[in-house]
Amino acid sequence: MTFWDFKKVLVTGGAGFLGSYVVDNLEKKGVKDITIPRSYLHDLRVRENNNKMVKGKDIVIHLAVKGGGIGFNLKYPGAIFFDNLMMNTQLMEEARLANIQKFVAIGTVCSYPKFTPVPFKEENLWNGYPEETNAPYGLAKKMMLVQSQAYRQQYGFNSITLLMANLYGPKDNFDLESSHVIPALIRKFVDANENNKKEVEVWGTGEASREFLYVEDAAEAILLAAEKYNKSEPVNIGAGFEIKIKDLVELIAGIAEFDGEIKWDTSKPDGQPRRCLDVNRAKKEFGFEAKVDLREGLKKTIDWYKTNMRGRGGSMEIREGMLRKKKGGSRMQAIRDLIDTEKLKHIMNIPENFGDKVEVIVLPFNKDEKSKSYYLMKMQQHPGYIQALLNDPDEDVWDDL
Ligand SMILES: NC(=O)c1ccc[n+]([C@@H]2O[C@H](COP(=O)([O-])OP(=O)(O)OC[C@H]3O[C@@H](n4cnc5c(N)ncnc54)[C@H](OP(=O)(O)O)[C@@H]3O)[C@@H](O)[C@H]2O)c1
Repeated sequence: MTFWDFKKVLVTGGAGFLGSYVVDNLEKKGVKDITIPRSYLHDLRVRENNNKMVKGKDIVIHLAVKGGGIGFNLKYPGAIFFDNLMMNTQLMEEARLANIQKFVAIGTVCSYPKFTPVPFKEENLWNGYPEETNAPYGLAKKMMLVQSQAYRQQYGFNSITLLMANLYGPKDNFDLESSHVIPALIRKFVDANENNKKEVEVWGTGEASREFLYVEDAAEAILLAAEKYNKSEPVNIGAGFEIKIKDLVELIAGIAEFDGEIKWDTSKPDGQPRRCLDVNRAKKEFGFEAKVDLREGLKKTIDWYKTNMRGRGGSMEIREGMLRKKKGGSRMQAIRDLIDTEKLKHIMNIPENFGDKVEVIVLPFNKDEKSKSYYLMKMQQHPGYIQALLNDPDEDVWDDL
């Protein structure tokens, strides 16, 4: 009998980057009852959806997030603050009311003060305001820790909070608007090679340092903690090293075999000056140690990008793009061309006053069944598009999804 036998597990954000690895690991452990609330069906900013989702569950692993890299944080600080605070607070409250056995809250290194001794120790978490660009995200996440401690004290509710380092790995979000630094760099270098571009521009001065944790290690840490850790003191989850962004850039450029010029846009922010977590508590409390070396992890990620994403312009995130209708071609043909040539999984939001360009939102997913149901739902929201599809005599477009 293992901890996971017969457990009913809710994994919010289970279709996201980290979530997909957590779900895979749960499946490997034999967990049969896994629920993944998708945002289009059960928006967790809405309290009653949280109530529905937690009913009958034993464990909640809460990964759902509104977040992204530094550019995304600068563009959407209000939505990031509100969405995360709403999702997190209401979900934990509903989990408590539903007598969930354990709630695993995924926090972030962005909750640490901007200036704090390196490596970051959990006891210094409250000694200052976070770096400004990620404060709305980091502070909204940090409230889960307050809630976890308050609920344990008043209600004896068993929740834990893990503070994750920056993650990377295959299936990451490679959309340049919302991606984190590693996928953004990989995409820039691989695409530059592909397009014979001799120059790549990167943000900042390169002087800031970061720690990076391979996503499979992160997923393993979450399940270990879910099994073995039962306190509300936060725990850092990291790889325990730091690398300067300029060294990271050179490392990725080298693995991606880019030999052109790297241009630093120093008008763009560096973000927090240094980041590296003290990882001793995780080792002591539940025996977690990261295994995957940075070079090896980067190589796997670059290989994955080359095989799966290159030239598609897609990502795990919603992304807007333009589809150009061919002269004389039909709307359906334009959509089909896009699906055929770039194997994009989801296209929606085709405006009725469609001219020679179509706005598209592209949502590649890995799991076919989920893709189809999502696509169907989006179709229902855009009747013009449904009609276009239903009127098309050749229905095999569905098989391409
Ligand atoms: N990636 C990193 O470097 C990093 C670093 C530190 C901490 N973390 C933490 O790790 C967790 C996972 O991050 P990730 O990078 O894997 O995120 P991700 O790929 O962006 O996935 C986020 C997921 O959250 C779900 N979601 C967003 N808004 C929602 C809403 N209103 N209702 C329901 N679900 C919603 C999305 O569901 P749909 O797909 O259905 O829209 C999506 O699957 C987050 O808690 C994040 O803070 C990540």
